[in-house]
Amino acid sequence: MLAAWALSLLNPAPLGLRRRGYVRQSGLLHARSRRCRAAWAPHLERARRVIAAAAEATAQRGHAVILGSGLLDDVPLDRLAALFARVTLVDAVHPWPARWAAGRHPNVRLVTAEISAGLTGGSAAFCAGADLIVSANLLSQIPIVPLDVYEARGREAPPGLGAHLIETHLAALDAVARGAGRVCLITDTVQREEVRAGRITDSLDLMFGVALPPPEAAWDWDIAPFGEVGRGHRLIHRVHAYPDWRAARA
Ligand SMILES: C[S@@+](CC[C@H](N)C(=O)[O-])C[C@H]1O[C@@H](n2cnc3c(N)ncnc32)[C@H](O)[C@@H]1O
Repeated sequence: MLAAWALSLLNPAPLGLRRRGYVRQSGLLHARSRRCRAAWAPHLERARRVIAAAAEATAQRGHAVILGSGLLDDVPLDRLAALFARVTLVDAVHPWPARWAAGRHPNVRLVTAEISAGLTGGSAAFCAGADLIVSANLLSQIPIVPLDVYEARGREAPPGLGAHLIETHLAALDAVARGAGRVCLITDTVQREEVRAGRITDSLDLMFGVALPPPEAAWDWDIAPFGEVGRGHRLIHRVHAYPDWRAARA
């Protein structure tokens, strides 16, 4: 908790995003990713491989955009920076380790933006004409802060808000996939709670009922191993990977 709080103070972000809770959320994620480094490693490695393969399969290599770049733990930045003339990293919060990593590449730039409202329109000009757009373990996170804001104010969120935000991001990916570029989507989809005997005791749909097409690859992410949220149970997320979102939607 202390680490997450310190990170929340240190990581730069516009006041509006800080007030809404994005910096706090980023700090919590950062601290957990370091505590759970070993448990998360297989997931991060698979995600990096999917993104690298999607990048290598992209014929035009002018501009790559990574949405939800965050800590860059699942982003093969060196490879992307070598393959593409320009790489744009988009997130509500760019923590310091990501800023330092980006700073090593003259062709990598950071865009700080909240992208819940979609990718089209003025605030999303960064996607226009991109040859590769990667949504990197972002989709399931998009509803978290907006729903938290309602909860913090003691108000009910509008019914269907989570599903609406998920659908908005998918529609935005559909729209950019209709253009020339390749779209790669990686997202966690379902959370299951397991006890030590392996029995599933709870399950949560992270997509709020929105159906996804069959993935090209899928794996488990041990997001909260035993001891992280309780001694006797752990949380596992099922991850779907779509290295070519347009083909998956066809
Ligand atoms: C699970 S992390 C993604 C992992 C990240 N690719 C990494 O390697 O660290 C989700 C990221 O999405 C960002 N995020 C969540 N909601 C967002 C929104 N509405 N707009 C922009 N970024 C958002 C968070 O700040 C966080 O960095």
